[in-house]
Amino acid sequence: MSVSSHKIIAFTFLLYIHRVQAQYFILNFSDEDFHNGFDNNSTNEDSNYEKFGQTEPRSDQDLDPGSWRPILEQLDDSVVHPALTPYYSALKKMVSAASEGNFMLMEEAVNEVNASASAGDPPARSVMGFVYGMGMTREANGTKSFQQHQLAAEGGNMQSKMALAFRYVQLDMHDKAAKLYAEVAGTALSSFLISKDFSMVVPLRIHRGAEEDKDVLRRFRGEDGEDFKILEYQAQIGHPSAMYRTGLFYYFSLRGIRHDHAKAMYWFSEAAEKRELRSMEILGEIYALGTGVEKNYTKAFRCLTLAAEGGLYSAYTGLGYLYLKGYGVDKNYTKARECFEKVSDREDPSGMYYLGMLYLKGIGVKRDVKQATKYFLVASNAGLPKGMYQIAKMLHAGAELKKNPNMLKLAVALYKSVSERGPWSSLSRWALEAYMKGDVGKAFILYSRMSELGYEVAQSNAAWILDKYGKRSMCMGVSGFCTDKERKERAHALWWRASKQGNDYAALLVGDAYYYGRGKERDFVRAAEAYMYAKSQLNAQAMFNLGYMHEYGQGLPFDLNLAKSYYNQALENEPVSKFPIMLALVRLWVRRKYVDVSIMVTLLLASLITVLHLFNKRSQRREVTVDSIGADVAQPLVESAAFPN
Ligand SMILES: *[C@@H]1O[C@H](CO)[C@@H](O)[C@H](O)[C@H]1NC(C)=O
Ligand SMILES: *[C@@H]1O[C@H](CO)[C@@H](O)[C@H](O)[C@H]1NC(C)=O
Ligand SMILES: *[C@@H]1O[C@H](CO)[C@@H](O)[C@H](O)[C@H]1NC(C)=O
Ligand SMILES: *[C@@H]1O[C@H](CO)[C@@H](O)[C@H](O)[C@H]1NC(C)=O
Ligand SMILES: *[C@@H]1O[C@H](CO)[C@@H](O)[C@H](O)[C@H]1NC(C)=O
Ligand SMILES: *[C@@H]1O[C@H](CO)[C@@H](O)[C@H](O)[C@H]1NC(C)=O
Ligand SMILES: *[C@@H]1O[C@H](CO)[C@@H](O)[C@H](O)[C@H]1NC(C)=O
Repeated sequence: MSVSSHKIIAFTFLLYIHRVQAQYFILNFSDEDFHNGFDNNSTNEDSNYEKFGQTEPRSDQDLDPGSWRPILEQLDDSVVHPALTPYYSALKKMVSAASEGNFMLMEEAVNEVNASASAGDPPARSVMGFVYGMGMTREANGTKSFQQHQLAAEGGNMQSKMALAFRYVQLDMHDKAAKLYAEVAGTALSSFLISKDFSMVVPLRIHRGAEEDKDVLRRFRGEDGEDFKILEYQAQIGHPSAMYRTGLFYYFSLRGIRHDHAKAMYWFSEAAEKRELRSMEILGEIYALGTGVEKNYTKAFRCLTLAAEGGLYSAYTGLGYLYLKGYGVDKNYTKARECFEKVSDREDPSGMYYLGMLYLKGIGVKRDVKQATKYFLVASNAGLPKGMYQIAKMLHAGAELKKNPNMLKLAVALYKSVSERGPWSSLSRWALEAYMKGDVGKAFILYSRMSELGYEVAQSNAAWILDKYGKRSMCMGVSGFCTDKERKERAHALWWRASKQGNDYAALLVGDAYYYGRGKERDFVRAAEAYMYAKSQLNAQAMFNLGYMHEYGQGLPFDLNLAKSYYNQALENEPVSKFPIMLALVRLWVRRKYVDVSIMVTLLLASLITVLHLFNKRSQRREVTVDSIGADVAQPLVESAAFPN
């Protein structure tokens, strides 16, 4: 039996959840797990999966009803369903009000949204959920917010489902969260037919610690020879690679460029004429799926074959898909498998994913869940959302069977990660674009909306904007612009959520807020808790602070030995700012040696520390990692698996 022949393999894998949480998970699947029905049947029987089998691309409104995109891209009214006209008109007012800082207009907008919501319009209810959640022109009320989202979700609103799922996670109700996220993640997958899981749709963090992240913003602006105008010019004078990239900008609506399918197709075709392989591949995929063009398997097959024969191995994924489905060619599972194997031999995750699917479904091979899992794990670790989705489903099924809460949590984290690649993630591109144009109010409201949906990066961006821009963030409270107190509270709530999602800088700020009593009652115990959390993410500043609190018995027991151990840990984790840490160690040494040391010495050292600290004005805080952007990191396009049974 094939399973036992694989018995030697130790099923321990590092599963890295990309960009969502800076955390590693270790999945330790034992052989026993596989034999005891970790997942023998469930994945196969799951009809949910087959739903993605529809290769008909679904419209934006279908995937993300009430999407904010028409407002942000200023599409003309014809693309909007007539029934949604009042909703969109109100939403438009709302975004303008935030942008202009016009409270009267905001009230008007909220009244209009409320009217649509009262009439039973799900997207309007979803926005009311947001309004109550923020406390914007209405008293903040978690219950009302929840109710509105629930009604909207019942009406099929995906963004509300996501907001609810995130709320369930916060409430530790992971079973409910998993159900909702599974659905949202499934929808996100079908959106890849159109917007794919390209890595540049991942939200960008606009700050690094307390400062604006100039690097990210420069790259977004395109000062690294990536200026879109220059790029398009190069395309016009006939550079094939520039043509391809220009096409990508239009196809995925990158960096604030308006989505334009026709222009994208034009540039891909021009480049393909010049034998630009990546363009041939993407054209092949587009023709195979019929996203925005008439499906044409003949063309798809030709483009993909040319790309593959030209040496672009990833194109074999598309070819394999055509063989699998018998589109434009005779159905041949052997050939399909050979194609996927060619791709995965090059360590391409999409090939691995499809091989996994063949084993999972037993198509052209003997069904082997273990083998499938292995492939999915590799694909998942490489950041392929489809791989993550499969693993999440297995864990989800396994967790229900075994009543294992940790498995369930992990499933939720993976589903969430996939969900966040859905079409709603485009909010972040428009937020960033607004921010770049100096429209802080618009950026803030868009990031706030995304915060509600659970995006950690958006939570930290919104909180940072509040802290950094104060009144200019156009934060709106119950009866006018936010007071200082309202702003601090809102920022604290946002940092708090981000910290719970593994953002160590946020945890540090939450700790600071309690430590210094900023926007919160001074509370050393809670400060220590937050620092402890940041410490667990290897934040050197938090270690330093914990050392300090032990040294002075603030919130933590007075303990010079523990203090020393924390200072040492801080030193290990951040050699760059070792001055203050070294001085703390010196101070500690003095204190330990001469417990009754005169206050003078301490004061002297303290002032020395300050002086040196100012001298050495490097950021003490660990830099928060920033996601990279760039159109060249594109992953191969694969359709989200319409598998035959
Ligand atoms: C994996 O689980 C097995 C048995 O459950 C255990 O013996 C082994 O130490 C675990 N490995 C890791 C890396 O946790
Ligand atoms: C799998 O299916 C078989 C037969 O359909 C059934 O007897 C068995 O209980 C199922 N196992 C699990 C774990 O659901
Ligand atoms: C799952 O499949 C394996 C191998 O195919 C088999 O040994 C095991 O008994 C199955 N478990 C269940 C619960 O059906
Ligand atoms: C929303 O509209 C309903 C019905 O028109 C009204 O009864 C309610 O007071 C409004 N609520 C708010 C908060 O404006
Ligand atoms: C929030 O709304 C609920 C239900 O509408 C209401 O019962 C509750 O009193 C409100 N809470 C606050 C703090 O206003
Ligand atoms: C598909 O493309 C081929 C070659 O470009 C063309 O001859 C054929 O008519 C097209 N088929 C359809 C259904 O449009
Ligand atoms: C499928 O492809 C394999 C290998 O490419 C070939 O040997 C086989 O004859 C093909 N099967 C059919 C039914 O065409």
